[in-house]
Amino acid sequence: MKMLWLCVALALVGAQKEAAADVSEISGEWYSILLSSDDREKIEENGSMRVFARRIDVLEDSSLSVKFHAIVNGECVAHELVADPTEEEGVYTVEYDGHNVFHIIDADPDEYVIFYVKNDNNGEGYQLIHLLGREPDVSSEIREKFVQLSQEHGIVKENILDLTKTDRCLQARDQA
Ligand SMILES: *[C@@H]1O[C@H](CO)[C@@H](O)[C@H](O)[C@H]1NC(C)=O
Repeated sequence: MKMLWLCVALALVGAQKEAAADVSEISGEWYSILLSSDDREKIEENGSMRVFARRIDVLEDSSLSVKFHAIVNGECVAHELVADPTEEEGVYTVEYDGHNVFHIIDADPDEYVIFYVKNDNNGEGYQLIHLLGREPDVSSEIREKFVQLSQEHGIVKENILDLTKTDRCLQARDQA
């Protein structure tokens, strides 16, 4: 009987860990894999939210430094944003194409992290979900999870973009 309870307890701890990743574990290099939005234009070519992650660092004051590339006039341009923590644990805000509030909805920090972003641009908002991998690609199970999460948030399959099939500015990562 004791053994059974131990198993249940361990299973619960395991489930909890997967649901809410400790933000400190997501520091380091990342690659953008899949990107979805209910406003497709934002993530299409020349869209403001078509961004390619490079690295994330948790700063001393608990804010997050997010480094990424975006393509402007055909050139990869390096950006860095600093997102501020909010009173709600694990929830951050950042100004970029309006006001954004985001949190992690799924992660295994050695492999992948999925961010959920709610943008509010003068009352005109949209959702964004972004899958980042530690390597340039992730397993089909993780991709499937992302598709499911997108659909649970009302984002149709046609609005899920596979960034591994596009120019993600990989050649620009080693510079600047
Ligand atoms: C994106 O911008 C570039 C440069 O301004 C332009 O040549 C290209 O046609 C644009 N692509 C789309 C899909 O609008």
